[in-house]
Amino acid sequence: MIQHPSFTIEDWNIRETELHLDVLAQTESIFALANGHVGLRGNLDEGEPYGLPGTYLNSFYEQRPLPYAEIGYGDPESGQTVINVTNGKVLRLLVDDEPFDVRYGRVQRHERVLDIRNGVLRRTVCWTSPVGRTVNVSSVRLVSFTQRAVAAVSYEVEPLDAPVRVVVQSELVANETLPAMGKDPRGGAVLPSSLECEEHQAEGTSGLLIHHTRVSGLRVGAAMDHHIEGPPETFVESQSTPDVVRTFITAPLQPGQRLRIVKFLAYGWSGQRSRPAIHDQVIAALSVARLTGWEGLLAEQRAYLDAFWGHGDVEIEGDPQIQQAVRFALFHILQAGCRGEQRPIPAKGLTGPGYDGHTFWDTETFVLPAVTLTFPHAAADALRWRSSILDQARERARLLGRRGAAFPWRTIHGEESSGYWPASTAAFHINADIAYAVTQYIEATEDRVFEQEVGLELLVETARLWRSLGCQNAEGQFRINGVTGPDEYSALVDNNVYTNLMAQHNLSAAAETAKRYPEVAQALGVDAAEIDSWQQAAERIFIPYDQRLGVTPQDEAFTEHEVWDFATTTPEQYPLLKNFPYYDLYRKQVVKQADLILAMHLRGDAFTPEQKARNFAYYEPLTVRDSSLSAATQAVIAAEVGQLQLAYDYLGEAAFMDLYDLEHNVRDGIHIASLAGAWTALVMGFGGVRIRGGMLSFAPRLPEQITRLAFQMVFRGRCLRIEVTAKEASYHLLSGSPLTVRHYGNDISLTRSSAVTRPIPLIHAGPQPTQPPGRAPVARSAS
Ligand code: BGC
Repeated sequence: MIQHPSFTIEDWNIRETELHLDVLAQTESIFALANGHVGLRGNLDEGEPYGLPGTYLNSFYEQRPLPYAEIGYGDPESGQTVINVTNGKVLRLLVDDEPFDVRYGRVQRHERVLDIRNGVLRRTVCWTSPVGRTVNVSSVRLVSFTQRAVAAVSYEVEPLDAPVRVVVQSELVANETLPAMGKDPRGGAVLPSSLECEEHQAEGTSGLLIHHTRVSGLRVGAAMDHHIEGPPETFVESQSTPDVVRTFITAPLQPGQRLRIVKFLAYGWSGQRSRPAIHDQVIAALSVARLTGWEGLLAEQRAYLDAFWGHGDVEIEGDPQIQQAVRFALFHILQAGCRGEQRPIPAKGLTGPGYDGHTFWDTETFVLPAVTLTFPHAAADALRWRSSILDQARERARLLGRRGAAFPWRTIHGEESSGYWPASTAAFHINADIAYAVTQYIEATEDRVFEQEVGLELLVETARLWRSLGCQNAEGQFRINGVTGPDEYSALVDNNVYTNLMAQHNLSAAAETAKRYPEVAQALGVDAAEIDSWQQAAERIFIPYDQRLGVTPQDEAFTEHEVWDFATTTPEQYPLLKNFPYYDLYRKQVVKQADLILAMHLRGDAFTPEQKARNFAYYEPLTVRDSSLSAATQAVIAAEVGQLQLAYDYLGEAAFMDLYDLEHNVRDGIHIASLAGAWTALVMGFGGVRIRGGMLSFAPRLPEQITRLAFQMVFRGRCLRIEVTAKEASYHLLSGSPLTVRHYGNDISLTRSSAVTRPIPLIHAGPQPTQPPGRAPVARSAS
């Protein structure tokens, strides 16, 4: 989509200069605004045409029965689905009785700009109505980063050639009709009219709607008010019905005269608060927004982003498209997480209903690495949310006859929402992924309060799960059988290496942290014998190795399986999950997404450089990347083993996943994990950043197309800037006390007085590995 000439390449904007209705739904996801709390798809102001209307509130969902042909023990009976709540974006316009609708009349000029420096969506249209009246319409929309319940739109109409009477109908609309989602398993369920009205009100320039969901018992309030500037004859009135509140603003306009409306919106929701409490909450939020005013909201937004880009920006020389894409990615990551405040970060953020609005391991494994090093408070919040669902996770473990906590594979509220065991609960690695994110956050921040209040309990409960999930055999090996690793084209396997290495880390981290805080550990019921049992399991964990091939098998039996017949698989048959039975996939060597390769990234300490190179060469020809979660990891390891062109190509795939709609499902929302992967590929891949043992280490190396890479990050209360060129890397400590970091294994001391520069050693990589026919990433040259 962005490859179309109507999209321009700019450092800080995503600009669309023509409106193409065939990709409207896709652009609604790209142009979505959110703050982790409230999310608005980039729907056109007048509401129609739309691809998919969407207004989402974090954790606002409806419950629905999960249908089974044959229900099994432990299968959840109901699931959760994010719902489209009251739409406050709508500003319908009538120009001399003619509805402003881009499908009629003539669009003379159209532009939409996602301005990621200022955090707003701008739109300008020049439109001639079917009867020949021409108007300029412009709008600026924001979802406030500083006032988490607030969104606002500034909307202007100006006739160009003749006097006109305009009517703007500004609305709050509940229970909008939604288009069907199709059969793609990655989509979401559509629940018709899920909201029941409890209160509707309209007065003067303002209005309010309060609804509740029928089954999940959540209550939502939405309120709006307007600041209006128009000619003296401007007339305003408001009306309400159970599902719609409308404010009519009518004005006669001469050419050159303008009607300007600022619409303030506020949302509030809760599973517990009463109707009057929600009412008061949204009215209060609205009144702060009004007091701040439009200019004030813009200024706050800019200041928030100044601070963010000041310590999180990534600069690239040599590839302007990647530069644009990585800033777009960082902006959406910020939008997904910055004001989540102990609520989850869904796989699509708050940009669409894909994957039912669920949160997966994507958050801890792919999103939090970027968040931890750029806006760490949000990483702590996301992990505090995990901690808040510990009761449900403990209950799930109990139901499964295990100890500790078994976190859900996909959920909104904490209960397992997947009905397919092999690719959900069996992917027990999610528990170790959460533990890993906990330790990375603590190492990166030294947040001791978090460690004691939240971190230790998460480590303890997940370690308990592993201890009760695995078993020791006669030879003393600790084995974990019958689980699914990250690669969902293998399932219910024994000793998946990724799972075992991550569980090992989880068990050791729980033991070490429990020893550091004996009182907190004691309060959690941990004693010395339990700590010993974790340590023993960690020491004895079984990591299979295939001596014959000299590679690490993804799981114990993986390399004994027949290799998938790639030669006869046609391009249309990908993704394989839509065209082949799982039975066939499970018994062949074919990898959906990085699995052993991800183990080599997150547990790089468990492999020698030679093993990494050999394993990478073995798994590349088997990996089809039917998941958007793969390319970034492959980029990181490709960079580490010196396959820089390949790493660069994978970076392109991760970075353009949404802008090019590579998976053909960006209509349902953007892929937050893949966007975070663009950052990961650059910072952890070409920057070679790792955090291990509390130490920040770097092993940078650039592909020839990128002539300079500079990135900022926060680490232990300091801000660092790293600049990499082909020959050297320089490290600047921008703020905070002196810090020792590592460059290719050697310590360097950083102080604020001067930067330290070190040469980049040469690497001799072997021949570039191949991928399954037709599955190589697009070879990029920086044009
Ligand atoms: C991937 C999972 C991922 C999920 C949500 C699936 O296609 O295989 O690993 O968690 O998508 O992004």
